[in-house]
Amino acid sequence: MRVEGVGRNSIQGDVRFVEALEKMGGRIEWGENWIEARGPETGRLKAFDLDLNHIPDAAMTLAVAALFADGPCALRNIASWRVKETDRIAAMATELRKLGATVEEGADYLLVTAPHDFNGAPSAGHFRPVGLTVLSAPTGQTLVAIDTYDDHRMAMCFSLAAFGDVPIRINDPECVAKTFPEYFDAFGQIAAPVVAIDGPSASGKGTVAERVAERLGYHYLDSGSLYRLTALAATKAGVALDNEADVAALAITLPARFEGNRIWLADEDVTDAIRTEAMSVGASKVAVLPAVRTALLARQRAYRRFPGLVADGRDMASVVFPDAMAKLFLTASVEIRAERRYKQLMQKGMPAKIRALLEDLQERDARDSARSVAPLKQGDDAECVDTTHISIDEAVSAVLSSIQRQTALTRTI
Ligand code: C5P
Repeated sequence: MRVEGVGRNSIQGDVRFVEALEKMGGRIEWGENWIEARGPETGRLKAFDLDLNHIPDAAMTLAVAALFADGPCALRNIASWRVKETDRIAAMATELRKLGATVEEGADYLLVTAPHDFNGAPSAGHFRPVGLTVLSAPTGQTLVAIDTYDDHRMAMCFSLAAFGDVPIRINDPECVAKTFPEYFDAFGQIAAPVVAIDGPSASGKGTVAERVAERLGYHYLDSGSLYRLTALAATKAGVALDNEADVAALAITLPARFEGNRIWLADEDVTDAIRTEAMSVGASKVAVLPAVRTALLARQRAYRRFPGLVADGRDMASVVFPDAMAKLFLTASVEIRAERRYKQLMQKGMPAKIRALLEDLQERDARDSARSVAPLKQGDDAECVDTTHISIDEAVSAVLSSIQRQTALTRTI
């Protein structure tokens, strides 16, 4: 991570925060007007015992960093924390304990020990939530809700707890507006960058996106499967696919689960059921309904996780992740796409006729491109990869080089 605008010659006192990171094992390089930080070679942060009187505000971040350290961490000489936006010593102690840390609080110090593992050793980054877990709406995951006390630094510091193994919710995140209104956008772009891959059906984007995610070590979202699942759930419930309100209600509470390469709707494995041509057509029908698209928006965004996400669909770059670090548009001639779909279906032993597939694809392309909400089209800021005459491997390479090109240009925040 390189921070520009502060460096060796900076008179800003808080640059000395970097010395604390160095004591924790961070590898630091200084330039005239920049600082670069890398994680410790061992991959684990070391415990510290520091007088932090000279950097009281920046020191708050160290209290959260202590959750990732290999032993008890002492933050000393921080009495001024008690008379800031809130009593920061008390607030910090309360919130760290929610994640399972052991915290000793004194008039002017904090002693923070990461949650212990079963052998009694501090187990950096592995949290043990205590009470107060809530369910997150779109995914049904449990998470820890952190209170921020109308204190922007509480909100910003605790965002780092998201690197642990328990999802975090920051309550009242708007309190960052006091000094850094775009903080969480910037944080998201660094901690969970998104590669958006859009394009028409059977352009190869699913296979390519999945392989690109693997190569980058990122998570993968196949957003089309959410529309397919919605169409399947509606069909099963006997709801007409143009009944906007009822289909949207199903989309909001869709009991979908992705486990390895299997997809579940409640307790039924529907991996193959959503791939039929009937569900392809059904998906494109429910996808024209604005209320359905809105219903699926939060769910799609919830897949954005550290260390990053490759998302494929039709509106990943334009609507769902407009701040994606790289945007691609994968396409191919409709004849080649029909041929690929035919081969896919044959391999799965599903009956198909190439002529009918071609017509289906043309019809779906037309519906996807003509709809009023989030129509399928290449955005001005997306790079196009035409896969008509290239193999999957070549398409993966083309996408990876495009990501490299785009990130070299855009990763300065
Ligand atoms: O990508 P896939 O072919 O599985 O998508 C099925 C249908 O879902 C598409 O034809 C399209 O109508 C819709 N869809 C969408 N927006 C997305 C993903 C899929 O409208 N992001």
